[in-house]
Amino acid sequence: MSQLIVDIHTHVYPPSYMAMLRARKTVPYIHDPSDGAEPRLIILSSDDDPATPLDQRGRPVDTSYSDINVKLSFMEKHGINCSVISLANPWLDFVPSDEAQTWAERINDDLESTCADVNKDKEKKPLFAFGALPLSAPSETVVNEIKRLTTLPHIRGVIMGTSGLGKGLDDPDLDPIWKVLEETQLVLFLHPHYGLPDEAFGGPEVINRYGHVLPLALGFPLETTIAVTRMLLSRVFDRFTKLQILLAHSGGTLPFLAGRIESCILHERKFIANGGDTPGPERSIWEVLQTNIFLDAVIYGSAGLQAAVAAGSHDRLMFGTDHPFFPPLHDEDEKWPSVTTNYQAICSCFGDEKADSIGMVLGNNANRVLRLGLE
Ligand code: URA
Ligand code: ZN
Repeated sequence: MSQLIVDIHTHVYPPSYMAMLRARKTVPYIHDPSDGAEPRLIILSSDDDPATPLDQRGRPVDTSYSDINVKLSFMEKHGINCSVISLANPWLDFVPSDEAQTWAERINDDLESTCADVNKDKEKKPLFAFGALPLSAPSETVVNEIKRLTTLPHIRGVIMGTSGLGKGLDDPDLDPIWKVLEETQLVLFLHPHYGLPDEAFGGPEVINRYGHVLPLALGFPLETTIAVTRMLLSRVFDRFTKLQILLAHSGGTLPFLAGRIESCILHERKFIANGGDTPGPERSIWEVLQTNIFLDAVIYGSAGLQAAVAAGSHDRLMFGTDHPFFPPLHDEDEKWPSVTTNYQAICSCFGDEKADSIGMVLGNNANRVLRLGLE
């Protein structure tokens, strides 16, 4: 039997969301140049530098972001048997509070019907989805949407950024959300968007000199690392021991830094420095990595992947592509280097004699964890 390949990190902007971005003039927005050139997607705050002409800001956005048939062709080209699609950043974080519920229902119903339509056609590769959350609304609204998502047959979890309800992921107001996620056992896909403040990189001029490299290669992973460390420090994993979280980009730098984080906690189990009086977490970061956290394998190198395996385990790691971000620069017909690099990293991380581990990472873990029911 051929190897099952499941892509658990692959995004869409449904047409309704694209239309909403097109109607906006501040980040996040889509700009259509007047000369008919390719539209621009301006979603990162560093994309919107007034020193850059509007027609050049952000990145080009084509139908691969919104047309599910383009995703299905991408899957075919790369031998992917099943994808778990999710709304891309910045999700619904910026939507006015009183519109958030309507938008979440619209997006999630759209994701559900896209999956249902595709899955009806047995010639097509099956799709599942992570739902979006109305995080600018009160936590009760978020909880209700999570409960509603359990009634949609193709939803297998939820995607969320690191700002939570606006105050980060150590905010006690998130407790009802952690509780319902734990009760429903929906996997929370935690994904970065905000990066680090521009000053961390030397300001907007420096950032833009190097395109998206600094915010995406460094800002995103550190944002994820900080967010999940704040969850750990605030004892979210002590209170919600059954929470299941999937961290984007192999956990940012969490696997690499886990020992250092644990050591700093160990030396200050109660956070008393500078007049503090906050109890630290009881469960160790290693236990959390091995019971509450899954990592995607979107790290493009075996060194990072080895850290992910060492910190978690080969049965907690899942293949992803981050499609449609990172398309090839030149030859549209070639396989995407952003995908082949990840395949290669997985194969070289485990070596020939570990075919079982490779199979688990490429698809069997996702099939089990997300209950996809694939043969
Ligand atoms: N990958 C994402 O998911 N979002 C971005 O903005 C860039 C890469
Ligand atoms: Zn992504």
